[in-house]
Amino acid sequence: MKAIEIKNNQIKFNKFIYALAPMAGVTDFAFRKICADFGADMVVSEMISLKALYNHSAITSKMLREDSSAIRCCQIFTHEADIIKPVFDAESFKNFDIIDLNCGCPAPKIVKNKDGCAMMSDLQNSKKVISALVENCHKPVSVKFRLGINGQENYLEFAKMCKECGVQFLTLHARTREQGYAGKVDKSAYKKLIDAVKIPVFWSGDIISIEDANFAKQIGCAGVMIGRAALGNPEIFSLLKGTTPPYSKKQAIINHLELLKTYFKTEKTLVAYFKKHLMWYVRASKNATQIKQEILHFENLAQIEELINNLD
Ligand SMILES: Cc1cc2nc3c(=O)[nH]c(=O)nc-3n(C[C@H](O)[C@H](O)[C@H](O)COP(=O)(O)O)c2cc1C
Repeated sequence: MKAIEIKNNQIKFNKFIYALAPMAGVTDFAFRKICADFGADMVVSEMISLKALYNHSAITSKMLREDSSAIRCCQIFTHEADIIKPVFDAESFKNFDIIDLNCGCPAPKIVKNKDGCAMMSDLQNSKKVISALVENCHKPVSVKFRLGINGQENYLEFAKMCKECGVQFLTLHARTREQGYAGKVDKSAYKKLIDAVKIPVFWSGDIISIEDANFAKQIGCAGVMIGRAALGNPEIFSLLKGTTPPYSKKQAIINHLELLKTYFKTEKTLVAYFKKHLMWYVRASKNATQIKQEILHFENLAQIEELINNLD
């Protein structure tokens, strides 16, 4: 039986879901494919600007590549209801199964533009945007959000509005916008949310162990999204699910790089981008501090490939 079934834009979760959380600048198509290989049941893209797609940005369109074997969720951000229909009429999202709306990004440049977590401070407009998305995107819609913004914790009210609009599931990162990524998530918020909306809820925030995932399962979450614990560590999915990894970390790094070679146009942009992933991949290596210093100074692919060859 499939972990997730989708029929007539309705989602049915047949078991507890382990998902790769959306991470801008991290969950590229190659990393999503690798996490799916290691057992992620669902993978979520980096957040994609709907406005950029509306304006026919070639760079943003390229981000819609999807090669993974998991359930494929594309996260978008917008605060403009009227650009939704034209973008989705263009079939740009044909590679994805689910559309997720970002209502949780705390970054100043996003919030200043009324996107991300700012959506939680204007429920009237959010309702218009989410309704337009449900009506026009031809796929099930989910929403990811935080506890609140500007000192107001209105996540329950916000979630009820999402449900009324026809959203299929919700993902809560139980910190406020002001908290950013600091401190711990408010563990009590997830159960309150489940009780309030009675639609599937995903737990996002601080999941790093089997015990964490089991706690989310016990309180009734539909699944967990893994963010920072997956950085340079796609094996986390095998670990959490108790399955045998399909290949080694070294092979994961090689696969990631090979796939990205088919994506970036120049060696310079590929090297600049992959160095960040490589730093995460080597975090647990012997001499990690020294290796990371070396990576900082890398300027070409040959240096990256030599380092990968020399890894255990
Ligand atoms: C580098 C980075 C980028 C992120 N980008 C996004 C994003 O594009 N969309 C989103 O909804 N959340 C984003 N997040 C938040 C994560 O999806 C997740 O909710 C948060 O990191 C808490 O989960 P964790 O403790 O498992 O990392 C990002 C987090 C990190 C660390």
